[in-house]
Amino acid sequence: MNRAMLLALSLVAALAVVSGPALAGGDAAKGKKVFAKCKACHALAEGKNKIGPSLYGVFGRKAGTAPGFKRFSPAIKKSGVVWDAETLDKYLAKPKDFIKGGRMPFAGLKKKADRDNLIAYLEKATKAK
Ligand code: HEC
Repeated sequence: MNRAMLLALSLVAALAVVSGPALAGGDAAKGKKVFAKCKACHALAEGKNKIGPSLYGVFGRKAGTAPGFKRFSPAIKKSGVVWDAETLDKYLAKPKDFIKGGRMPFAGLKKKADRDNLIAYLEKATKAK
């Protein structure tokens, strides 16, 4: 193995560490408290839509397709986003930057730790039964 290859390999290894799984370190118990900011608009129960759609089964679902929610913005419906830890992290950091023209009236969660914890909580609490 020559030096260039070694360098390339170590770069790949370093990137893997930095990007890591988005859920690394997320604490679901703390995330439940962060969810208080979402509760006025979102329920976790199946089919229970409020101002925002129910988040039941949201992981792995296409954005803007929660069953029975009629008020999705055209922007979210045609965004092509599929919800997972990574897309949720970006959306929740700044909803209107991630989905331009989206209608979620929420400024965003600035702290990465809040988002990690919340996503860890949501991953458990929204799992389709
Ligand atoms: C004031 C009401 C409100 C608050 C607070 C709010 N949301 Fe929303 N949320 C909405 C609305 C309305 C939409 C639909 C957005 C659209 O149509 O563009 C939405 C969309 C979403 C979606 C996309 C759902 C789908 O099926 O595509 C997710 C995920 C989401 N919100 C999560 C959250 C989380 C997590 C929080 C708390 C950090 C939060 N929201 C706070 C109203 C709210």
